[in-house]
Amino acid sequence: MTVRPPLLEGRRVSKSFGGLAALTDVDLTVHTGDVVGIVGPNGSGKTTLFDCVTGMEEIDEGRVFFKGCDITHRRPSQVARMGLSRTFQGIRVYRKLTVMDNMLLSRQWGDRGWLSVLRPSHPRVTERANGLLDFVTLLPQRAELAGSLSWGQQRLLEIGMALMSDPDLLLLDEATSGVNPTLVDAISDRIVTLNQAHGKTIVLIEHNIDLVADLCDRVVVFDHGEKLAEGGVGAVFEDPVVIEAYFGGRGLDA
Ligand SMILES: Nc1ncnc2c1ncn2[C@@H]1O[C@H](COP(=O)(O)OP(=O)(O)OP(=O)(O)O)[C@@H](O)[C@H]1O
Ligand SMILES: [Mg+2]
Repeated sequence: MTVRPPLLEGRRVSKSFGGLAALTDVDLTVHTGDVVGIVGPNGSGKTTLFDCVTGMEEIDEGRVFFKGCDITHRRPSQVARMGLSRTFQGIRVYRKLTVMDNMLLSRQWGDRGWLSVLRPSHPRVTERANGLLDFVTLLPQRAELAGSLSWGQQRLLEIGMALMSDPDLLLLDEATSGVNPTLVDAISDRIVTLNQAHGKTIVLIEHNIDLVADLCDRVVVFDHGEKLAEGGVGAVFEDPVVIEAYFGGRGLDA
């Protein structure tokens, strides 16, 4: 029997900024079909990990594999072309363009598959964009400026944009932070559907622990650039080391 490699694997990934060790010897394994949560205090290296695996930051030590290929030194466009897409903590949409134009200009789809040979105005591209806008509940807003959308809608738009490339793996960096509870539910529901109905593998950085508990099969806890714990949600959040480091000894219900 052949054992399939993990979809994404980081081996002993280290990254420093000047004298500051943002990541130290971090291992990460994500299998096809997983929904993995990454949690940890501010500045613990979560976003840096996304930057390193997507080629947006050059790593100092270690290796990153995607679909069994070493992608350690690949450019972001090359990584995206292989089927890895992401959203950004600080939302990167073109605020002065319409919602539809944002979809059509999504940087992450340009290189991948049949869409890449078609102009943004080609009916098959607009059809795909319309379908995804419908999926992220923004079809009625397609002609509005992205900057006029609520924060939560902009996060949904960014998810739609990330899906234009039809990625196998989607990395979501704080997809619900700053979002009102109704849209948190909408985003959460889309994540479940993406995973269960569309087969997408998802890694999400998230401060909302209840959401992590609801959505994730597995959780990885970061602290000071190191992996502090990893495992099933129940076990990890009951781990005294995690409670002390992440919740200051107060536990989940404090
Ligand atoms: N481009 C950069 N230049 C210098 N320092 C950086 C850079 N990116 C991140 N850092 C530093 O690396 C550390 C880890 O940052 P990172 O953004 O990965 O944390 P995080 O876990 O995502 O935090 P948060 O929950 O606040 O988003 C922090 O100390 C941060 O200031
Ligand atoms: Mg971050």
